[in-house]
Amino acid sequence: MLNCQKEKFFIAQDVTYLNGAYMSPQLRQVEEVGIQAVQRKNKPWTITPADFFKEVEALKLLFARLVHTDQPERIAVIPSVSYGIANAARNISFEKGDHILILEKQFPSNYYEWVDLARKKELVLDVVKAPDSLVDRGQAWNQKVMENIKPRTRVVAMENVHWTDGTWFDVAQISKKIKAQGGFFIVDATQSLGIFDFDQNLVQADAVIATGYKWLLGPYAIGCAYYGPAFDQGEPLEENWINKQYSQEFERILDYEESYRPGAARYGMGEQSQFVQVPMLCASLSQILEWGVAEMQAYCRGLVDQVLPLLDQKDLWIEKKDWRASHLFGLRTAGGFSPAVKQKLLDQKIFVSYRDDAIRVSPNVYNTKEDLIKLIETLRSAH
Ligand SMILES: Cc1ncc(COP(=O)(O)O)c(C=O)c1O
Repeated sequence: MLNCQKEKFFIAQDVTYLNGAYMSPQLRQVEEVGIQAVQRKNKPWTITPADFFKEVEALKLLFARLVHTDQPERIAVIPSVSYGIANAARNISFEKGDHILILEKQFPSNYYEWVDLARKKELVLDVVKAPDSLVDRGQAWNQKVMENIKPRTRVVAMENVHWTDGTWFDVAQISKKIKAQGGFFIVDATQSLGIFDFDQNLVQADAVIATGYKWLLGPYAIGCAYYGPAFDQGEPLEENWINKQYSQEFERILDYEESYRPGAARYGMGEQSQFVQVPMLCASLSQILEWGVAEMQAYCRGLVDQVLPLLDQKDLWIEKKDWRASHLFGLRTAGGFSPAVKQKLLDQKIFVSYRDDAIRVSPNVYNTKEDLIKLIETLRSAH
């Protein structure tokens, strides 16, 4: 069982940070690695051609472990989720009238690309709405997703943990259904990977995409994506030298090469060797793997379970635990939260997010039970 890990982060004593879904705080050791990485450029003569590859390969290995695949060559380094989604969307063939299924209010980086594709290729965009009723909401939403996978559904592109309120989707079951009919399953796992177990052996998604600055505890503007065999012959968003065969051999760089390095290497961004971000993300992933994702989720579940008795479902509503995460969940109240409530939280230096009609609470291993109690008591006293 993990203990509170707050001392490993930079978090001011008077701050109650319950907003990891917005941006993680910095791990002290990641800052240290970042400073050293910045200083490396003071001596560019120490950066060798091999360094363009070494740390990227280490990053792919770490990310592969997180998604439970033994094929690190299936991981590509990307700058953003939108980039990762665009790579996938560009490489799925459609016939006019095919359907693309997405969730209501999923993050825009996994929305606009599909809207655009649907418009250009005359496809049908099925948006699976959240149920109106709060009774068994998560379970009912999952059911609706399953029912909406129709014979013409070509792609399901969704989050496994909804970014607004932590609703959990049974992606193994959803994947099985869409893949049984030859369709594609694309997961934006940004709000789960690194804190909530995702097992590609069970899910068998065609693409799993996540940015680094939230639950991966890394820096901004770097992420990773897994692309499965269905994308092996695809066309990447950009042509860059490093994704090509033999790119390690700098002396061959002008022997212009058609073929790509194996697996998903073709989908990696240009200048993926980012000498600052890559080692920082490696450091944070190493820490996460050392703690253990299941242990981190269990830690958060332990915190939430202890304060559940303080929530009565009329006053402050929370999803049943089987249908939500414990590191990210929405609290709802009839009529929504007033600006006065938001101000009171700010005054108390309690940081959460407001997404849709919910207060989005997102703790991690640096939080304590007292942090959640402080939040709930402040909410109670403010309305
Ligand atoms: C579910 C989800 N996906 C993706 C992102 C970020 O997307 P991008 O990397 O394209 O900016 C966020 C940011 O809040 C998110 O919550």
